[in-house]
Amino acid sequence: MEHADIINKTVLFVKETLKDAEGGHDWHHIERVYNNAKNIAETEDADLLIVELAALLHDIADPKFNNGDEEKGPALAADFLPGLGVDSATITHVQNIIRYMSFKSSFDEPTFTSIEMQIVQDADRLDAMGAIGIARAFNYGGHKGRAIYDPAIKPETHTNKATYKNSTAPTINHFYEKLLLLKDKMNTETGMRLAQQRHNFMLVYLDQFYKEVNA
Ligand code: ADP
Ligand code: NI
Repeated sequence: MEHADIINKTVLFVKETLKDAEGGHDWHHIERVYNNAKNIAETEDADLLIVELAALLHDIADPKFNNGDEEKGPALAADFLPGLGVDSATITHVQNIIRYMSFKSSFDEPTFTSIEMQIVQDADRLDAMGAIGIARAFNYGGHKGRAIYDPAIKPETHTNKATYKNSTAPTINHFYEKLLLLKDKMNTETGMRLAQQRHNFMLVYLDQFYKEVNA
């Protein structure tokens, strides 16, 4: 099958799989990550089919929404891709990217990496930053029934692995446990540059947020 046909069929599969997904992890998130990944890949020497497939398939079964099951996404990809004639080395690589690219895994010793994974990871991280990242965070917090902020909780205390993994804190804390840390975790030059702009915007946003809270 031609590259374009493989991608088109994968797009349809992902749209169908994510039709009931939470707003921050829906098809539009995938589309933004896919576009970010293609932009970043322009300045890197990478296998484009792997980058595009991994971007499209990276959240088909997010462990967060699947009782922590880390293997469901890779398994779905392995069920789907052979029907498009994708070779087994590409499928294994895409599975590894889905398995290891999450922010949660970034706290653990890296067990797998590749330029293709680094590109998709940067693309996904960019979508957790800036104006879209802020919208996604509050949408996710609302989905989980969390407060926007709580004057009694100091956000800066929520920055380590334990608090991240078990956090039920107000969404504003999520800036300190994740969003503001992302710019220093980017892999590629292009990713770093784009991340810096989005990071700066989040700082402006927080500044205004506290001005209004304390008005
Ligand atoms: P990954 O990028 O590996 O999928 P997450 O699943 O942690 O990482 O993040 C996906 C999206 O959900 C991001 O936009 C992130 O900010 C948001 N999110 C995750 N956990 C929280 C949380 N506790 N509060 C608010 N938003 C969250
Ligand atoms: Ni994602």
